[in-house]
Amino acid sequence: MRYLDTEIRQMAEEDIPAVLAIEKLSFRDPWKAEDMLNEITNNPYSNFWVIELSNPSLNIKQICGFCDWWVTFDSATICQIAVHPDVRQMHLGSQMMEEIIATARAKKVRTITLEVRASNKAAIKFYGKFGFYVSHVKDGYYLDGEDALYMILEVKDNG
Ligand SMILES: CC(C)(COP(=O)(O)OP(=O)(O)OC[C@H]1O[C@@H](n2cnc3c(N)ncnc32)[C@H](O)[C@@H]1OP(=O)(O)O)[C@@H](O)C(=O)NCCC(=O)NCCS
Repeated sequence: MRYLDTEIRQMAEEDIPAVLAIEKLSFRDPWKAEDMLNEITNNPYSNFWVIELSNPSLNIKQICGFCDWWVTFDSATICQIAVHPDVRQMHLGSQMMEEIIATARAKKVRTITLEVRASNKAAIKFYGKFGFYVSHVKDGYYLDGEDALYMILEVKDNG
């Protein structure tokens, strides 16, 4: 049996079309190419990663998800995380989240925060699995008027 490997790596400019395609399938108000380019070239706080599925013997490599998260001193914010709809619920999102939390811990980050649409039950359950809790509701946070849940993870220091 042949297996698919996964690799999480920094996003590069040439990855923008693949990431944009997943972005458009995942969000109601998607970022544009120039937003992503700005994020990877001009934002020193941003960690913009892609997750790639590959099978070296078949010469297959495909970006299947991405995340963009910022570290500012001892806190971090997840701005975006998405997996292509065809490969959701296969723990690719979890792999990225585990890497985010491990990297945040190594950088001495104390809290990771995020906003999520109140109707986005899958994402809320996903975050809850990693220990994020709802701190409060941000009324009418999104452009279409939907509320956001503000979620926080206290990063435990393993050392
Ligand atoms: C949220 C998202 C990134 C999760 O990625 P994923 O790779 O599908 O998630 P995983 O397979 O790692 O799931 C981990 C856990 O999350 C929860 N979960 C994920 N998708 C779920 C769904 N559709 N329904 C219910 N729970 C779900 C489950 O608890 C799951 O654990 P389990 O497999 O042991 O049951 C993905 O659904 C996505 O891209 N959504 C669209 C973009 C989005 O809403 N991003 C978040 C914006 S704030």
